Amino acid sequence: MRIITSALVLLAFAVPALADEATIKLKEAPGVEAVRNNCAACHSLDYPITNGGFLDAKGWTATVTKMQKTFGAPISDADAKEIINYLAANYGK
Ligand code: HEC
Repeated sequence: MRIITSALVLLAFAVPALADEATIKLKEAPGVEAVRNNCAACHSLDYPITNGGFLDAKGWTATVTKMQKTFGAPISDADAKEIINYLAANYGK
């Protein structure tokens, strides 16, 4: 019984720690600031990476355009370009 309790306590601490780490692990590369500034307002930053899959530049363009047009993200065209380049270079296929 005591072992089960300790395991549950450990688990309760371990899960948030893992989530934190996933959130901050964007690759450092040109354009990462644009992603940090524009893509964290509505969902966490690991969202594009874990839910988007690995897309080519065309796929990322479609995704970023969808964030702008469908969800109303206020992203400038200059930032959008930087974000797409960053994502295609670092999270592309
Ligand atoms: C204005 C709010 C908003 C901003 C800002 C935003 N998103 Fe989203 N995003 C959403 C919503 C809403 C969803 C759908 C949520 C869901 O399905 O749970 C989503 C989902 C996604 C998905 C999942 C796949 C998909 O196509 O639905 C990806 C990838 C994504 N966003 C990438 C980005 C990127 C990259 C940026 C920065 C350029 C960004 N988002 C900025 C609102 C936003």
